[in-house]
Amino acid sequence: MKNTFFLTTAIDYANGRPHFGHAYEKCLADMIARYQRSLGKEVFFLTGTDEHGQKVQQSAQKNNQEPQQYVDEVTAGFVDLCQKLQITESKFVRTTDPVHKKFVQEALQALYNKGEIYLQEHEGFYSVRQEQFVTEKDQVDGQWPEIFGEVVRMKEPNYFFKLSQYQEWLKEELQKNPNWIYPAFRRNEIIGALEKPLEDLCISRPKARLTWGIELPFDSNFVTYVWFDALINYVSFANFGTAENRWPADLHIIGKDILIPAHGVYWPIMLKALGWPLPKKYLVHGWWLNRGAKMSKSTGNSVDPLPYIEKFGSDTFRYFVNREMSVGQDSDFTDEKLIQRYKSDLMNDLGNLVNRSISMVHRYRQGVVPDYQESEVTEVDAALRSNQVVEEYQKSMEEYQVHMGLQQVWSLIQSANQYVEVNAPWKLAKDPVNDPRLNLVLAHLVESCRRLSILVEAVVPQSAAKIRTMLKLPSEPMLLKEAYFGKSLTGQTLGLAEILFPRIEDI
Ligand code: ME8
Ligand code: MG
Repeated sequence: MKNTFFLTTAIDYANGRPHFGHAYEKCLADMIARYQRSLGKEVFFLTGTDEHGQKVQQSAQKNNQEPQQYVDEVTAGFVDLCQKLQITESKFVRTTDPVHKKFVQEALQALYNKGEIYLQEHEGFYSVRQEQFVTEKDQVDGQWPEIFGEVVRMKEPNYFFKLSQYQEWLKEELQKNPNWIYPAFRRNEIIGALEKPLEDLCISRPKARLTWGIELPFDSNFVTYVWFDALINYVSFANFGTAENRWPADLHIIGKDILIPAHGVYWPIMLKALGWPLPKKYLVHGWWLNRGAKMSKSTGNSVDPLPYIEKFGSDTFRYFVNREMSVGQDSDFTDEKLIQRYKSDLMNDLGNLVNRSISMVHRYRQGVVPDYQESEVTEVDAALRSNQVVEEYQKSMEEYQVHMGLQQVWSLIQSANQYVEVNAPWKLAKDPVNDPRLNLVLAHLVESCRRLSILVEAVVPQSAAKIRTMLKLPSEPMLLKEAYFGKSLTGQTLGLAEILFPRIEDI
């Protein structure tokens, strides 16, 4: 069996410009994708846009455009964002892709043939924003909660998917798999939601109301509910049913707002009813907040990621979001926090270490990495090349605690900078009697830079490649196993030191 890893992000609604939350999710997924590649795995990584449904149709109308033209333009912005962020997706998914549409129709037909879908006259309250029927049970203090937007009364025949009959099955599945959802408390939220009886899911929308969707294969008066269409992207773009099949996904990365009911209830039941395997794991992240409130398109408080990526570079953006957010929790964004991380973690820690280490090899050893006596290595020197940091990083990444992994790598960077201060190579260089010691110190610093170029690859790939180029290593990503202590650059002539992260005043 091939050693593979298949991960997905949510697909973003193509009804406006990408915002900070979208950019975060892609950076998180890409860091995991690059990490998995560094283990030698063949990674399959899907991200993309959700292009059908009422929200998109309405936005197109507001913009006086045909929906297809509108989504072509909007999606171009998301593709551009992925490029700017160095995202290494295997395929950028679009739900208007004819292959996907056909796949969704086949899935609907299969469920219909099995008797999992039925037609019924339905009268009730309908939330325009959520594109779903709601019931009085959804009210809070007799009011429709803000997330539903405008709620109207509506009567129409519709097709329903027999969700309710799988309620017990799903409960058992959740009980059986304590690690299925990360963080674990989110699993309890789904179990909690299943305390109430599930209602069957309305999966059709009459064309009179919505034309921008995938037509039901068994009734051309309707298109399908956008979630039914969107969730299936994970399978329809995974070569399911062919020799190149990738499904089931090893990891679905989603935000906490789309776990219940879409990913935690509808999706496993749809898969079960279709007889397809379930995804192996969910990673549920929290929200970026703007002064305590969720950044979102509908409230208009979202932050545009592009100016930050343009000013500080994609490495900085990727590092910031992955280091600042504790995976699974919420985090408040401010310019000050980003500038602080830039100055302290990137400029003063990583950038400074690499720059001065390489500069000193040029200054004191004509750019050639010196050899040293193993017998002269003290405990303090050995601490710098300890493999513990690699093991800790690996453990955190296996648990998707990317912020912890980065904290551990940065502790190596900070130790190496302290090592420079304590050993003060500029003092050692004053007297040739210290030559053996100076050789040892410089060699250990270069070795730290070599190992760091591998350890920071997943988060700051451009900087990692620059470090390797300075070290005259091939610029391509290296396997994580190479990050274990190796003493391999002795005798190598290094390239010139470059500035990785310029001073804020200079950018
Ligand atoms: O829900 N912070 O699309 P979407 C962090 N099309 N993440 C955020 C966020 C924030 N402030 N705001 C949104 C959809 N997200 C559907 C998904 S999947 C088959 C269909 C995350 O554009 C959100 O949690 O509203 C979700 O994971 C992703 O961005 C897309 O949100
Ligand atoms: Mg949303």
